[in-house]
Amino acid sequence: MSDRIHTLSGYFHEYQKSVSQPEEFWARIADSFHWKKRWDKVLDWNFEGPDVKWFVNAKLNITENILERHLFTIGDRPAIIWEPNDPNEAGRTLTYRDLYHEVCRFSNVLKAKGIQKGDKVIIYMPMVPEAAIAMLACARVGAIHSVVFAGFSSTALADRINDCEAKMVLTSDGNFRGAKKIPVKAVVDEALEKTTTVKEVIVYQRTGQDVQMVAGRDSWWHESVEGQSDTHQAEEMDSEDMLFILYTSGSTGKPKGVVHTIGGYMVYAKYSFENVFQYSPGDVYWCTADIGWITGHSYIVYGPLLAGATSIMFEGVPTFPDAGRFWAIVDKYQVNQFYTAPTAIRALQAHGTEPLEAYSLDSLKVLGSVGEPINEEAWHWYHTHVGKTRCPIVDTWWQTETGGILVSPLAGITPTKPAYATLPLPGIQLAIMDPEGKELTGNSVEGNLCIKFPWPGMLRTTYGDHERCQQTYFAAYKNKYFTGDGVKRDHDGYYRILGRVDDVINVSGHRMGTAEVENAINEHPLVIESAVVGYPHEVKGQGIYAYVICDMKNRTAENLVSEIKDTVTKIIGPIAKPDKIQIVPGLPKTRSGKIMRRILRKVAEGSLDNMGDTSTLLDPEVVEQIIAGRV
Ligand code: PRX
Repeated sequence: MSDRIHTLSGYFHEYQKSVSQPEEFWARIADSFHWKKRWDKVLDWNFEGPDVKWFVNAKLNITENILERHLFTIGDRPAIIWEPNDPNEAGRTLTYRDLYHEVCRFSNVLKAKGIQKGDKVIIYMPMVPEAAIAMLACARVGAIHSVVFAGFSSTALADRINDCEAKMVLTSDGNFRGAKKIPVKAVVDEALEKTTTVKEVIVYQRTGQDVQMVAGRDSWWHESVEGQSDTHQAEEMDSEDMLFILYTSGSTGKPKGVVHTIGGYMVYAKYSFENVFQYSPGDVYWCTADIGWITGHSYIVYGPLLAGATSIMFEGVPTFPDAGRFWAIVDKYQVNQFYTAPTAIRALQAHGTEPLEAYSLDSLKVLGSVGEPINEEAWHWYHTHVGKTRCPIVDTWWQTETGGILVSPLAGITPTKPAYATLPLPGIQLAIMDPEGKELTGNSVEGNLCIKFPWPGMLRTTYGDHERCQQTYFAAYKNKYFTGDGVKRDHDGYYRILGRVDDVINVSGHRMGTAEVENAINEHPLVIESAVVGYPHEVKGQGIYAYVICDMKNRTAENLVSEIKDTVTKIIGPIAKPDKIQIVPGLPKTRSGKIMRRILRKVAEGSLDNMGDTSTLLDPEVVEQIIAGRV
């Protein structure tokens, strides 16, 4: 059963109901799922703790809502279509029936290896169907998965393993990405030298490259599934049991483990998927994200599969073997809904329209955008050349913490405006706050974006540190969840996201804390101090600009810059490598020792004429020196 909204007046009607009677509203949506036991109460909450519970005391297994639920109705429908990195390699299709059996088989493997309800399992895998199978098998046996993007370094992986005390790691021998073959197992081996909790590693064979298998710890995926039964009785879980932990960057310290729980996340992922993309039974849907990010969790795996959709999973990159790859895949599988990031659109835009010419793209009905603000130029290019002006664009705003899309047009229903995420989904009560903590009502206002009522897909805590969750999201404004984003509500009441107002930067749609990059830079033995800011970048949205004070020893600046880049790659991964590094004699600090980042941002973006008030600086001369040495 679908709870799809079909008209604009239907949207306003549902929105109204979701605000005036939120519990009745979400109970109705939740009723269409399979629960082993119904809830006693729809919602229990306060934002002071915070303490939020949805579908209190309900019992379920989310995978029964993906697998058993679809087995006898749409068992032969493709659930996952996998397109490999190399277009000459055969793809794979798993029907809902196939997926059921594969997940059951792997659930039996997890049980055989001693995984119990509540254990944490790290998934560090390329984009292959087994990654999705692994997630679902964890959910089926009641284990908590934590997917780590396979581009993260061994140090970043070890940090995450240690933080959640993972018992098992699921990985692959290697990973194909474009023309490259990336060692994956070797990274896991290195990470495990810095951890003590992992007892088992299961390795999916993808590239066939040589790997070292540690006796008593490592086993091959294909060997461990051999002989396992392809049925499995799903574990009964509480609605508020953890489903997964996903690490994401904040403005301070190490990445935090955002915790999502089962019942609410399930209801929100499916509801938002069906409504935003206007999915109809039989449609082929493709989201190009990696499962290492929340977009992959909610809109490759959980949302589409809960809805019984066909979800494409692509292993490769947009420009391999050429810049027409996305469009070749759209035509090959007759994709109806296509969901990608502005950074990919801008990268393809740079290749012109020629790579599109060989493809019809006639199957497309809806285009989506996610992860960062989409600039108007990219929006128009996407709309004109990919969507042939026929396909509505859904600019979807949300976060790892929100679990699902919160602000977005409903495709073909909500009139769109370039660069606007438009209107909140039903159940989402937004508030725009001024710097004094007052809510700005009415239209034509700008401020910080908050949410003032719980929604089922929201985070419940940050793993192992509830206080940090409270401080990060619920302390800035009383009784409100603070998103960290700035927003404008225009004269029509439409929302436009203006970007982060904290020290989080968004590079190619990847979220990074400036402090996190600084800490990595500071690991270089000759670095004395560093400060990192974002600056506008044509393709990536934001680039990383690092100001570094170094003990030069007998190095050249060029040597040092390249060594520092290598250090960051080693500590975090290539995605955090600074685009620009400027070696500076000092940083602009106030007398109390605080770095004036405003000045550093201005220099990085090249607005050099007005530095604002620099009278509180300890050493104003440093600013001149920084401007003179700008890279
Ligand atoms: O700044 C917003 C930006 O991405 C941040 C969340 O990043 P992450 O947790 O990695 O999740 C990305 C995928 C949901 C937000 O705080 N962001 C995300 N979507 C948009 C966006 N900014 C503008 N427009 C969007 N559509």
